[in-house]
Amino acid sequence: MIEIKELTKVYRDAPALDRVSLKIEEGELFSFLGPNGAGKTTLMLILSTLLRPTSGTAFVDGHDVLREPERVKREVGVLFQETSLDGRLTGRENLEVQAVLYDVPKEERRERIDEMLDFVGLLDWADEPVERYSGGMQRRLEIARALIHRPRILLLDEPTLGLDPKAREAVWTHIKRLEEMTTVLTTNYIEEAEALSQRVAIMDTGRIVALGPPEELKASLGRDVAHVTCSDPEGLRDLLSGLGYVGDVQVDGRRLSFTIEAGRRKELLEALSDYELESMEVRGPTLSDVFRSHTGRSIHVPFSQQRTGRRRLGRKRRRMG
Ligand SMILES: Nc1ncnc2c1ncn2[C@@H]1O[C@H](COP(=O)(O)OP(=O)(O)O)[C@@H](O)[C@H]1O
Ligand SMILES: [Mg+2]
Repeated sequence: MIEIKELTKVYRDAPALDRVSLKIEEGELFSFLGPNGAGKTTLMLILSTLLRPTSGTAFVDGHDVLREPERVKREVGVLFQETSLDGRLTGRENLEVQAVLYDVPKEERRERIDEMLDFVGLLDWADEPVERYSGGMQRRLEIARALIHRPRILLLDEPTLGLDPKAREAVWTHIKRLEEMTTVLTTNYIEEAEALSQRVAIMDTGRIVALGPPEELKASLGRDVAHVTCSDPEGLRDLLSGLGYVGDVQVDGRRLSFTIEAGRRKELLEALSDYELESMEVRGPTLSDVFRSHTGRSIHVPFSQQRTGRRRLGRKRRRMG
């Protein structure tokens, strides 16, 4: 349904996308997971025909984004990273503007808009100005707006960035209900990629560093993650360092963190049985561990940075006077 071929975008000298190739199947729920600056928005803008790549191309339902942009635009619905609703208009009016832009026949508009508002649980709010909506409600309205021309593919760029966990889960519920739709989303939230993706591409500095179903990516690491606290961390470190299946041990006060080869939990417990431990936890790896193993860095970004890119409607309004 989407075929990306050697896609490269260079801003000045630095590549934001570096020869990315990938296929996304019809009906797939696919996510790009990566930290800020990984190239996710650049990729979404190229797929929605708003940005030209430096080289390479992409096909959406067989149509080249460079040669047939008008055709591609009809096939895709897009939710941009930055909110672009008009806060003074009601939810219904925002959708009407979009319906006109996308040539939804006049006699179908009313019904279509009601259907979409109902889908995202906002029918009761249809006639309220959007500036009274919460951040999560605005994102849901933007999903409804992206669907108004019945696209076959939905592109969601950071659909829950900056939302609180409850609002985020409400958005997830609506994304999950899109069943047959081919849905491509970007996120820098590990839990979001885990909750929503059939397959995930982990991105870093313009490249795909790992690709597959979340469970497969985690299993492919072949390691579990352990955290132990005890009163003699240095002594325990020496003991662990002698075990061949234990990776680098990090000590933080009384707490030790390390990885072990998958399938060695029982041996670890036996090795530590004479040791007095305050607590011990061994868990399977997360996508965050997958990212670290491929890049040597942590995917987590400071909360302050996670909020960048979300324009508040209030500010936009003031600027417009
Ligand atoms: N208009 C632009 N001009 C110059 N550099 C840009 C521009 N847009 C993005 N970049 C750079 O390209 C890289 C990828 O950005 P982006 O696609 O926004 O990543 P993400 O969405 O994953 O955070 C970043 O290093 C960013 O600074
Ligand atoms: Mg982005």
